[in-house]
Amino acid sequence: MRSLGFVDGKIIDLSENAVPLEDRGHQFGDGIYEVTRVYNGKCFALDRHIERAYRSLRELKIPAVYTIEEFEEMHQLLISESGIQDGAIYLQITRGVAPRAHGFPENVVPRLTMSIRPSTSHSKLMEQGVKGLLIPDERWLRCDIKSLNLLGNILGKQRAKDAGCFEAVQIRDGIVTEGTSSNFFMIKDGLLWTHPVSNLILKGVTRSIIIEELAPALGLTVLEKSFSPEFVQKADEAFISGTTSEIMPIISLSSTLVGDGNVGPITRKLQQAYQSMIAKQCG
Ligand SMILES: Cc1ncc(COP(=O)(O)O)c(C=O)c1O
Repeated sequence: MRSLGFVDGKIIDLSENAVPLEDRGHQFGDGIYEVTRVYNGKCFALDRHIERAYRSLRELKIPAVYTIEEFEEMHQLLISESGIQDGAIYLQITRGVAPRAHGFPENVVPRLTMSIRPSTSHSKLMEQGVKGLLIPDERWLRCDIKSLNLLGNILGKQRAKDAGCFEAVQIRDGIVTEGTSSNFFMIKDGLLWTHPVSNLILKGVTRSIIIEELAPALGLTVLEKSFSPEFVQKADEAFISGTTSEIMPIISLSSTLVGDGNVGPITRKLQQAYQSMIAKQCG
């Protein structure tokens, strides 16, 4: 089992130098990415990730030059060549390689790179819950695009880390938006609340699975409505969702306990339903 890269259609070692100096992803962050979890040697929810990659490309006016089948084959190849059973596959597509100038270059071919690595287990944290930190959302206004530009997210995550927290939960204009690499949900009186789909959040694959599949199957109602940090203080439960963090309970926010500070029963039910779905798809 070994971590691998995939560049120009070839499998390479992750340590190899592979990105040309004038790749626009390198110079401008001009590109998109996706990350898909691999469980038991199989990709989870790959169709949703590919669909979102096409949308991100459209929004950035980067031509889509791979078919769904090609994306699936490349993911499969990385799994079989690496021997990784439990991991994460990242893919990046940049606008291409061209002499540095802000405007779009003509006649360039978008450049795809990928990597696969084993995943670190979060199972203990998922059992116990983690701390969150409320911070101002300083990102740009197209958070709906999964772009390679992640500076706002990186600075926010580091603030959380420096404060001994797992994730920063961001606030824009008095509204709770999302985490730096996750969506945010809170539960009050049995109802799930999360920020509506807009340019201010990424429409997470895990978020969509919760809203479209897990919550309805458990008879839970989800309100996709804006809410304030003051309202979060009244939450009974809270969690973040994401491909790598899955459904991660938040037991305190900026040192204030969420509910009684324990992982709540609805979060537990959602976690169990998510694990069952993984087992069904990838078992
Ligand atoms: C800003 C942001 N929001 C939400 C998510 C969760 O999305 P998904 O569930 O598709 O991983 C991510 C994941 O990377 C993210 O970076």
